[in-house]
Amino acid sequence: MSSTREPPASGKAVFVREMFATIAPRYDLTNRILTVRQDERWRRRAIALLAPRKHGEILDCCCGTGDLVFGLLRHDRTLTVTGIDFCEPMLERAAARARREARGVARFVQGDVMAMPFREGTFDGATMGFSLRNVVDVVGTLREARRVLRPGARFVNLDVTKPANPLVRRLFGLYFYGIVPLVGGLVGGSKTAYRYLPNSLTNFPDAAGLAERFRTAGFADVRTIRLGFGAIAIHVGTA
Ligand SMILES: C[S@@+](CC[C@H](N)C(=O)[O-])C[C@H]1O[C@@H](n2cnc3c(N)ncnc32)[C@H](O)[C@@H]1O
Repeated sequence: MSSTREPPASGKAVFVREMFATIAPRYDLTNRILTVRQDERWRRRAIALLAPRKHGEILDCCCGTGDLVFGLLRHDRTLTVTGIDFCEPMLERAAARARREARGVARFVQGDVMAMPFREGTFDGATMGFSLRNVVDVVGTLREARRVLRPGARFVNLDVTKPANPLVRRLFGLYFYGIVPLVGGLVGGSKTAYRYLPNSLTNFPDAAGLAERFRTAGFADVRTIRLGFGAIAIHVGTA
């Protein structure tokens, strides 16, 4: 793991980094329980939509403990996958997993996705999972992702979104704002963190709004694919 520049000292960035450091030890287990393992299926779909070419160089933004990194390598072990995240305890878990389960080349870099230590046009594709809600500047982060992609490469973002159907939205609200903090507190070890995570969706753009931000950041051919009864969205854009 290589250490790069320090993340900006913005209040939100510091809070988010420390919060993930607190929940890192049980992050994977809590995720599996909260999504009844559906997150693994959604990640496979995101990877299929990225459709990486053989021997490609792929970036996973906000890689956390590496779920998408290892998913990409399970999909195709000829890939070289770089995960970037600014939270050291999450990266330590990713590195430990790499020793146990990586089938190809997995690299982990500590850094902020709003200012990545990579040259223009470095990657053949990029992913991001359940993270865009946490960054200080959404369009700035998307622009940065586009900068490090080769022209024509895809960026695939997988995240929770507000369901469009009013009934589903209501049921989702009960689960997301009620059960998630409860289970997150019991299993994940921090009710505060699992109260913040759902709340980070409240002021985040809906799926159409996020697609618009992709276009503002310069992505072309922007598509939105909804899963999980409309509560999960995958956005795909071309650099
Ligand atoms: C909810 S976790 C998602 C982890 C992983 N992508 C997954 O799908 O399980 C969010 C991750 O984003 C990271 N993160 C949030 N803001 C970041 C930023 N500005 N730069 C780098 N990492 C960031 C956190 O440290 C955390 O590991």
